[in-house]
Amino acid sequence: MATLFLIGFMGSGKSTIGRQLANKLNYRFIDLDKFIEDENNLTISELFETKGENEFRIIERNALQSLISKENTIVACGGGTACYFNNIELMNSHGISIYIKMSPKMLADRLIDAKQARPLIKGKNKDELLIYIVSELEKREDFYHKAQYTIKGKSIDINELAHFLNDKI
Ligand code: S3P
Repeated sequence: MATLFLIGFMGSGKSTIGRQLANKLNYRFIDLDKFIEDENNLTISELFETKGENEFRIIERNALQSLISKENTIVACGGGTACYFNNIELMNSHGISIYIKMSPKMLADRLIDAKQARPLIKGKNKDELLIYIVSELEKREDFYHKAQYTIKGKSIDINELAHFLNDKI
């Protein structure tokens, strides 16, 4: 019945967990970045390059809005989605939000080889990446912590999580 929103920093595993969870719950899975790319016929990097971040955030907001009332759906948001406009309030008022929390060190380890398609961290070396994550996470957690549930991304048991969520949806 519900719409579930997975939020959290880049590299925290929102899409992987979302896909697995959708399988277990028999929900549809939507990756918000992928949805935006398909709608605009441009990659996220191309959108940042051609339109700039501010315009991207408006596109992202509109995409979120269009998915807000989809039933039986898990939406894996982009890392910044929860942190702009009143997006997190919008998610909370229409569905269930889950913050996948991970330490900066672990995020840096996961992102170092996956930064090419991510315009905000592209070109950063390991030290720069960790510094960026620590400072950005400090700001973003004000928003991430507004999620209705927080789960530790390091040790997620999908069966357990699916079971837990089954009682809420
Ligand atoms: C962003 C995260 C990305 C993507 C864009 C901006 C961010 O999504 O939306 O590059 O601001 O943290 P992922 O979290 O799926 O990498």
